[in-house]
Amino acid sequence: KARLAILLSGRGSNMVALVKAVHSGVLQNLAEVAVVFSNKPDAPGLETAAALGCATASLSSQGRKRAEFDAEVVEVLNQYRPDYIVLAGYMRILSPTFIRAFAGRILNIHPADTHQHQGLHAYEWAFENQLPETKITVHLVDEGLDTGPVLAQHPVDLQGADSLAEVERRGLAVEHSLYADTLARLIRGELPNLTPETATAAETTPEPLVP
Ligand code: GAR
Repeated sequence: KARLAILLSGRGSNMVALVKAVHSGVLQNLAEVAVVFSNKPDAPGLETAAALGCATASLSSQGRKRAEFDAEVVEVLNQYRPDYIVLAGYMRILSPTFIRAFAGRILNIHPADTHQHQGLHAYEWAFENQLPETKITVHLVDEGLDTGPVLAQHPVDLQGADSLAEVERRGLAVEHSLYADTLARLIRGELPNLTPETATAAETTPEPLVP
């Protein structure tokens, strides 16, 4: 079974969806949760993870220099021998130290098409621009901000979504199934082997691999 380290900074709804998929969904028999880690010791998602029976760990990133902090996080995570680092609302840009430690094995979920929107507040962006549709993206993490090779994308119909809360509700429903499905396909070897070294090739591919 693939060992997952799930990283979060807040609520942890994607973490919950992943843990459920491991317990009794598409990730059953494929993956186990090695640890749920947070850079915020008081993140609500950590308590939720513990209540779900997951091992948890945290280190406060407050006031820390990125490279130094990340070196410590790598040490902590390595104790759990993760095969994949699964970012689930981990609101911190990763340093090259971190990315090289787990090269090609770090996944992120971004609530927009990463070719159109990077960084924070993607649902606000979709809502304010009254987009009829947005896309949820699961991608490998490279050294840029939301620039890594796309593993999967799925559209979210936003027509008639008249509040930010409604945009988020529709988007999160897609996030929660897409992340587990994509991980399952990756672990089963059904996705092309996209390492950050092949990122350039992937970035020039206009179509998402999984429409
Ligand atoms: C999710 O919408 C996730 O896609 C987003 O943060 C939220 C975390 O929610 N991530 C990003 O914006 C990364 N750039 P959660 O804690 O309930 O999973």
